[in-house]
Amino acid sequence: MVLENKLGITDQVTLAKEEERISKQKAKALFDTGDIDTIKAGTFAGLQQIHCYLFEDIYPFAGKLREVNISKGGFRFAPVMYLKASLEHIDAMPQSSFNEIIEKYVEMNIAHPFREGNGRATRIWLDLIFKKELKKVVDWNRVDKESYLLAMERSVIKDVELKVLLKDALTNQIDDRSLFMKGIDVSYFYEGYSTYKTEEL
Ligand SMILES: Nc1ncnc2c1ncn2[C@@H]1O[C@H](COP(=O)(O)OP(=O)(O)OP(=O)(O)O)[C@@H](O)[C@H]1O
Ligand SMILES: [Mg+2]
Repeated sequence: MVLENKLGITDQVTLAKEEERISKQKAKALFDTGDIDTIKAGTFAGLQQIHCYLFEDIYPFAGKLREVNISKGGFRFAPVMYLKASLEHIDAMPQSSFNEIIEKYVEMNIAHPFREGNGRATRIWLDLIFKKELKKVVDWNRVDKESYLLAMERSVIKDVELKVLLKDALTNQIDDRSLFMKGIDVSYFYEGYSTYKTEEL
């Protein structure tokens, strides 16, 4: 099935490529314009802003709550009927320590608020919380794809693997442009997109 899109694209391979190209350009602009610094860390409104920024030229549902139930790898994300309430609870979760931040991220992943693009938008959101609260960010290049995806799958039951994995990859290069751009590339690579390099777009 090809998702309804603003580009009028009807084949899924072309859509995937265009989505990658356009939204990576937007991710780059998010950093270079300084717009990223206006986003309120750790709120659903902030995540909506990120999602909207990346995908508004591509999908009509950019920044909007999904209206269908979705699942992956045998796990069903938050049912639509509880989604709004769940996001309000997540907003209220504390985020002053590394463990609290991971626990909040795990819950946001379980919410999976959007129809598409949750993984990529939520990793930017996670880094904004780390940056604000701990003056650190994740060097995603040091986080192996298989280990990360497995840790995410397990995180709905137990978050210890994810905590170990990400704690090891924290860096204090919080304003490093190149680290940010490479992080976007790695984040897209986790989701199967690796045609373009963000820095070259
Ligand atoms: N079975 C699972 N259980 C829990 N979390 C998962 C599972 N599968 C994937 N995830 C997490 O969700 C993220 C995105 O996965 P998914 O493909 O479902 O979302 P998406 O909306 O298509 O996001 P994107 O378009 O950015 O890939 C993954 O990077 C991972 O963090
Ligand atoms: Mg996806």
